[in-house]
Amino acid sequence: MFSALARPAGAALRRSFSTSAQNNAKVAVLGASGGIGQPLALLLKNSPLVSRLTLYDIAHTPGVAADLSHIETRATVKGYLGPEQLPDCLKGCDVVVIPAGVPRKPGMTRDDLFNTNASIVATLTAACAQHCPEAMICVISNPVNSTIPIATEVFKKHGAYNPNKIFGVTTLDIVRANTFIAELKGLDPARVNVPVIGGHAGKTIIPLISQCTPKVDLPQDQLTAVTGRIQEAGTEVVKAKAGAGSATLSMAYAGARFVFSLVDAMNGKEGVVECSFVKSQEADCAYFSTPLLLGKKGIEKNLGIGKISPFEEKMIAEAIPELKASIKKGEEFVKNMK
Ligand SMILES: NC(=O)c1ccc[n+]([C@@H]2O[C@H](COP(=O)([O-])OP(=O)(O)OC[C@H]3O[C@@H](n4cnc5c(N)ncnc54)[C@H](O)[C@@H]3O)[C@@H](O)[C@H]2O)c1
Repeated sequence: MFSALARPAGAALRRSFSTSAQNNAKVAVLGASGGIGQPLALLLKNSPLVSRLTLYDIAHTPGVAADLSHIETRATVKGYLGPEQLPDCLKGCDVVVIPAGVPRKPGMTRDDLFNTNASIVATLTAACAQHCPEAMICVISNPVNSTIPIATEVFKKHGAYNPNKIFGVTTLDIVRANTFIAELKGLDPARVNVPVIGGHAGKTIIPLISQCTPKVDLPQDQLTAVTGRIQEAGTEVVKAKAGAGSATLSMAYAGARFVFSLVDAMNGKEGVVECSFVKSQEADCAYFSTPLLLGKKGIEKNLGIGKISPFEEKMIAEAIPELKASIKKGEEFVKNMK
């Protein structure tokens, strides 16, 4: 069944779902009872790359963990409920994935989530800095353009900061771009790869369709339309769910894809590349998403923006002011924390 999820080398899902991979990743999901957390935990439990899955939330983790623990795969599963159990959930972890926080409702921007999610991400990453300072931290909680600066500043405060290990998960933008371009051109989506750079909100989401493999030619009107659809794809789901939340299932898939790539690279697989919103020197702002070569210790090499079209160049220039403002907002939040 999972062969249908297989992607070509680089995306790494095929190996993750195969039964021959021998791995022992200890992965924690924080916000594990939520719309993203539950299907993400299911995909992680289904992977032979994972040997221990620890699930934290402020609600329902005993039930989610009991349910998942009956699945006939090797990963052990344990639930942790409430802040006093968070340290035990994190101890010994290699990778921590954070989808904790509130999602959007129709009419909301990701930035509207800041007031609630900033403190959740700050609290959870502070616990990571204390209890698993060496782990890879993958933040899904929005607004990613601010929550990654928050995670960074929190790790700095605890003297545990490593820029190669803190990732804003933007994989869903790549997944959507691959799907939409494949639909347009009649291609197999599993064979399409569109890098998406910048950030993870509206016009800061910059698909590099000029770098798509296989190469695709689109007239400017189609290029503008599909770019807009990729940028607003999250809102498409929020509207369709009509108040019941934002993307959860596709996000769980994307989160799992990112974690499997990271774990593959940590296990020594070569040539694993994923885009992610990270501390960066590739653009005129302190954080930016670009393709990253992953390795045993997280980011091995930032592959940068590469050759782009004038249309894409313009999008980057237009995204920078918003990115800078979101980054500053995150940094100031931590500065003003008691
Ligand atoms: N990066 C992306 O591409 C992307 C895509 C979709 C959604 N998101 C974001 O992911 C987040 C989660 O979305 P969802 O649909 O799963 O929401 P949800 O409300 O279904 O689940 C969130 C979970 O977080 C838990 N939670 C709240 N406060 C917590 C805390 N202090 N500690 C631990 N857990 C806590 C809740 O109990 C709940 O189980 C939102 O911020 C959403 O905007 C990101």
